[in-house]
Amino acid sequence: MIVRTLQETCEPSRGLILRWPHSPGMKEEVISTTLPFRKFTGTTGYLTNDSLEAAVNCALALEKPLLVKGEPGTGKTLLAQAVAESLELPLIHWPVKSTTRAQDGLYVYDTVQRLYDARFGDGDVKDIKRYIKLGPLGRSFSSPTRVVLLIDEVDKADLEFPNDLLHELDKMRFFINETNEEIVAAQRPVVIITSNNEKELPDAFLRRCVFHFIDFPDQELMKRIVRVHHPRIDDALIDQAVVAFYELRTVPRIRKRPSTSELVDWISVLMQSGVGTDRLIRELPFLGVLLKKEQDVELLAAVKKSGIRR
Ligand SMILES: Nc1ncnc2c1ncn2[C@@H]1O[C@H](COP(=O)(O)OP(=O)(O)OP(=O)(O)O)[C@@H](O)[C@H]1O
Ligand SMILES: [Mg+2]
Repeated sequence: MIVRTLQETCEPSRGLILRWPHSPGMKEEVISTTLPFRKFTGTTGYLTNDSLEAAVNCALALEKPLLVKGEPGTGKTLLAQAVAESLELPLIHWPVKSTTRAQDGLYVYDTVQRLYDARFGDGDVKDIKRYIKLGPLGRSFSSPTRVVLLIDEVDKADLEFPNDLLHELDKMRFFINETNEEIVAAQRPVVIITSNNEKELPDAFLRRCVFHFIDFPDQELMKRIVRVHHPRIDDALIDQAVVAFYELRTVPRIRKRPSTSELVDWISVLMQSGVGTDRLIRELPFLGVLLKKEQDVELLAAVKKSGIRR
């Protein structure tokens, strides 16, 4: 008897392919491509490239969390909004802070309110359910419809945080001890996790995710992104501003390179102030929108003086 197991492969152009492993004398056959793999292709307000779309679609097909890293301002948070918009699902945003614990995402038992009610006699304090407040993870599990859950900046919390989430993210269920109740996700939420790389994430956590690093956009994609935000911008201004912006990013030893969102803001100021492209060529007006460290401002002045830049 030949025992054959199905293999799954994610291929951006063809979707989730299920095929029998290749063996001598046996033609590789594609068994099923029935899943609608290319679900996410960006939105009118959020532009993507093939590799980002493939990562999102892999995560959707495998029903695993998508871990997204990338420089600040490369659209990690906005990605979750775009996925929610394109799949027409509600978004639950969980912004992680240095003090956030995994338990906060599940539920909090509001003992202070219960004590207050007991003292001032408001409502039935025996009904503990009234004092259980679901956190973002709890709400995404208990939602009757599928949701997109954004766990934003997972690296802000301490190292235990991602480890403490492993079980719940795997099983999509958790227990509320105070009420003896189990919350089980009716439908697995689409989980998107962002990180700014401030801390290494544990391997056990990484194993459970699909990973994507958002590369800094090339000039062509950047111009398209700028046009999303400034549809009426004229060609000469966008060309000049983008060239100047990329030159600035490549100044050696710059500490904080300006990001996409800073370029979008800078172009907004340029348009509002009516600065012509000739002035853009001579100087970089409104530099404070792009550079946020005095060392970088000084560095740029020195570079200009030495004539390296124009
Ligand atoms: N692909 C994109 N399409 C459209 N706009 C984009 C895109 N990427 C970035 N932007 C612009 O950049 C801004 C910043 O995006 P976002 O806040 O998602 O970045 P981030 O990676 O989460 O940054 P941070 O790490 O600082 O939180 C957006 O509000 C939007 O203006
Ligand atoms: Mg963000």
